[in-house]
Amino acid sequence: MAGNAVGLGNFLRFPVQAVQNGGGAFMIPYLVSFLLMGIPLLWIEWATGRFGGRFGNHSTPFILHELDPKRAIWKYIGVFGIFTNIAVAAYYCYLESWTLSYVWHSIQGTFVGKSAAEVAGFFGDYVGLTDPTEPVLFWLLCLVLNTWILSRGLSGGVEKVAKIGMPLLILFGAFLAYQGITLKAGENGALFDGTVGLNFLWTPDYSTIWTPKVWLAAAGQIFFTLSVGMGSIQCYASYVKRRDDIALNAMSAGWMNEFVEVVLGGSILIPIAIGYLGIDRVVELTQSGGLGLGFKTLPYLFTQWGPTMGMFAGIAWFGLLFFAGITSSLAMGTPVMAFLQDEFGWKRNPAAWAFGAVILVFGAPTVLYFNEGVFDEYDYWAGTVSLVVFALLEVILFAWVFGMDKGWEEINHGADLRIPRVYRFIIKYVTPVILLGVFLGSLPAIYEKLTLPASPYVVGARLLLLALYLGIAWAVYLAYQKRRKATIR
Ligand code: ALA
Repeated sequence: MAGNAVGLGNFLRFPVQAVQNGGGAFMIPYLVSFLLMGIPLLWIEWATGRFGGRFGNHSTPFILHELDPKRAIWKYIGVFGIFTNIAVAAYYCYLESWTLSYVWHSIQGTFVGKSAAEVAGFFGDYVGLTDPTEPVLFWLLCLVLNTWILSRGLSGGVEKVAKIGMPLLILFGAFLAYQGITLKAGENGALFDGTVGLNFLWTPDYSTIWTPKVWLAAAGQIFFTLSVGMGSIQCYASYVKRRDDIALNAMSAGWMNEFVEVVLGGSILIPIAIGYLGIDRVVELTQSGGLGLGFKTLPYLFTQWGPTMGMFAGIAWFGLLFFAGITSSLAMGTPVMAFLQDEFGWKRNPAAWAFGAVILVFGAPTVLYFNEGVFDEYDYWAGTVSLVVFALLEVILFAWVFGMDKGWEEINHGADLRIPRVYRFIIKYVTPVILLGVFLGSLPAIYEKLTLPASPYVVGARLLLLALYLGIAWAVYLAYQKRRKATIR
């Protein structure tokens, strides 16, 4: 579960979202979102997952159905829990493949002796497919690797990768965070101390506290980083036994994720990039294709630390990103496979390869039309808006339809932790109200985005995502018919 949560979101997306939304202005909605939405949703998703698992359901369409079997609608809302995993994995695996390629280039010493502009230009050429061979090869390699590990199963593949990847990632992260925090102006060409970036992030700024756009970004980031509103937590939790604790485990995974995000993730990219480039330049660099910031800047900055240290830092940074990424993308594959296995009786192997094939098809536009904004478009709709919408509907189902009495019992069954009772109130009232507020407040921005003139690539990306949702809904419909026939018989 921690491997699922800790991902590229922690090290790449969090700093960029924070910078784009004003640093200290972002952190207040972010922390409030964690306490009042993230934590309750972790409990809700672990509980619904374990509950659904008792009835043999391992993906959200039928996990949600189990909570309110009388109404047909929940199955189709549960489609979000498959849709988001596919749509996010589609661009996420491409991002993951950059990390592999950059580990390779760090070992090769590609960035040594290059100017800052040349290193940023290297990234531009890479995603601009000036020579498509390498980006495409690394992307395919990444897809095959994910698929192969998934085909080995949860304990045989996914868990093994997490057991090796997670400790390594923490180790690399601690090393780089130390470098970020202790960065000194004037040493190795740095303009500012690391504290300049840290202050940018941690000095509260109340001026935009009521801006819905900042709240949507903050809530979206909390959901993205914790993997809530996605459908993958429910899937993993559906394999937890009824008597096993979920209350404490949900907290361990959630707080571990936040430690990695705000303590480690917040102490690497922001202080180092701002230390060398200054706040204005870093803000400018996040304006488009923001997730590339760590690729455009850090390889050059590492070369300032000398060849050996620079190479080590490059391997540590991109290696850490790779492990963080793969343990999360594997978690995105599991619900999709579980759906095919539960509903259509597919074996593990073909289910894994089917996931790989779907990611190939939906990921291809993000690779081919990265500069046309397709990648960012996927991230906006699948990585932010969908998560908030699904989380809102989930909390309503859990607290108001399934009911808080049963829900509270479900969360606390077998618990190794006494949950403060105030959370009963929070789950029932506070979380849905804030979520609704965030959603309604961001509707004007969503409307504006949809009505502003957009390139055919961007429109195409939206239509593709819509087609994906409808396609999954159709598969859910077929699965339901199949189940009904089986019961009649
Ligand atoms: N939770 C995953 C991440 O942060 C998706 O990257």
